[in-house]
Amino acid sequence: MTVDFVHAQNPRPDNWWKSSVVYQIYPRSFADSNGDGVGDIPGITSKVDYLAQLGVDVVWLSPVYSSPQDDNGYDISDYTDIDQTFGTLEHLDTLIAALHERGMKIVMDLVVNHTSDEHAWFQESRQKDSPKRDWYWWRPARAGHQPGTDGAEPTNWEAAFSGSTWQYDEQSGEYYLHLFSRKQPDLNWENPEVRAAIYEMMNWWVDRGVDGFRMDVINLISKPRELVDGPEIPGRKYSPSFHAVANGPRLHEFLNEMYREVLAGKNLITVGEMPGATVELARLVTDPARRELNMVFTFEHVSLDQVQGGAKWDLQHLPLPVLKDNLNAWQMGLAEVGWNSLYWNNHDQPRAVSRFGDDSAPHRINSAKTLGTVLHMHKGTPYVYQGEEIGMTNASFTTIEHYQDLESVNHYYEAVSLGQQAEDLLLSLAVKSRDNARTPMQWDDTHQAGFTQGIPWLTVNPNYVAINAAAAMADSDSVFAHYQKLIKLRRHHPVVVDGWYRLLLPEHEQIFAFTRTLDSAMLLVVANFSSEPAEVPAGSLPDIDGAELLLATHAPAPGPLRPWESQIHLLRAAQ
Ligand code: GLC
Repeated sequence: MTVDFVHAQNPRPDNWWKSSVVYQIYPRSFADSNGDGVGDIPGITSKVDYLAQLGVDVVWLSPVYSSPQDDNGYDISDYTDIDQTFGTLEHLDTLIAALHERGMKIVMDLVVNHTSDEHAWFQESRQKDSPKRDWYWWRPARAGHQPGTDGAEPTNWEAAFSGSTWQYDEQSGEYYLHLFSRKQPDLNWENPEVRAAIYEMMNWWVDRGVDGFRMDVINLISKPRELVDGPEIPGRKYSPSFHAVANGPRLHEFLNEMYREVLAGKNLITVGEMPGATVELARLVTDPARRELNMVFTFEHVSLDQVQGGAKWDLQHLPLPVLKDNLNAWQMGLAEVGWNSLYWNNHDQPRAVSRFGDDSAPHRINSAKTLGTVLHMHKGTPYVYQGEEIGMTNASFTTIEHYQDLESVNHYYEAVSLGQQAEDLLLSLAVKSRDNARTPMQWDDTHQAGFTQGIPWLTVNPNYVAINAAAAMADSDSVFAHYQKLIKLRRHHPVVVDGWYRLLLPEHEQIFAFTRTLDSAMLLVVANFSSEPAEVPAGSLPDIDGAELLLATHAPAPGPLRPWESQIHLLRAAQ
């Protein structure tokens, strides 16, 4: 029986993505099969049984397409081929088959706000008289300015990876727009030929067997009708571009068109990454009646530990009530219409346990488990980022030479040139750099954590000797074992998927507590989100007499909750 046949025999139920857990793989850092120090597709295929053992339903692959790797694959030069760093199309087919055989699905990263500047489309577009000129955003210099000189950029926008969003192209005497690096020119979605080419490519991937798409910065595809300067910010040369550009007037129209042209009737999973999206926008996008996307990635809860109005590097303490309030707003906002995605970290964010938990030796395991419990018991589709399931921590890099990520490196050198102190910058990077999440997956306690036989592209965290998948799998009390149980709870208790959410003790500084209710079943989740004991205020939670304890970090004991202790109680059995 062929794999495709098995797949066809098990049609996906409607809304299958609501009861799924997604596991994100950052291929560069997952498993290296050929000793070149960079993870690859055969490496991933060698680990599918690990994924099956964890119990996840869907694997999301960060980009593996042909790419000059300026932004580690988020700069694509050929959408229908695989970068030789990662393998070949045949390797990918083998991976897809191996996942499908085990009942898992695969989601591809879809990076269509921009391409690489080495993509053939952009190469053609550079010719001023090319039919593809309008496929990208070309603009003349600011009126009255000499092209190519300081201040001549068409607008004052700052790119996500530092500097202007406009790159001057001497060949044609014009600038092109790049919201990210200069090697990531933005596609012009206003042009119907661009959209048709993207939909054709997406259909090609669907025909190849992929089960959905994670859409990179998808709320940037529609730009405002007029590209105008953003507000000037004292002490800064440029104005943040996302505020000026995100959520443009045709976003819903484009998403709806994509639905019609690619997604309709195929029962895929779609999640749109949307920096700057509000819960109101998310409700529109994820309202099934509007036929756009299944869910979006919000950035709000991962922006609370920065100075409001500042950049991600401007660190600020995050009080628990503020976090709860934000997550609650999304739970409430999408309670009746739409759907949430749930995540603590990904390849762009620091490690969850280091950021929201406590990665010091006494608390790492329990805080990693408690973070998992709280996230997975919210309503929505949980995303596990590789290594989260074993409680991997931030990288703890101490010099700029350790870093590879262009966002971190560009920010450091630009800020140093503007007079900021190197030590302060290194401190922010150690907390917020994307490389924190990108150190190689820690498989075992052998050389280079079992990630590679060669020299890894990014330094392995030295704590791999204690923190690794082999150790976690051999320990029935590990973070891994806890995640396995969380994933099983979703399978066995419909209340985990569909139950109504209600936040309790919203103002409590240490305790994160909430209920989920569906028919006659009620879950009570209570968690100490701190490294100190926490007293539960008398009478503040539903009575747990006679309840079933479904999962806990500690054996129950009277008295205050212990540091990072959490419990999931089932109060009434479903009928
Ligand atoms: C998204 C990706 C990030 C990338 C950026 C530009 O935010 O997650 O890794 O750098 O888009 O493609």
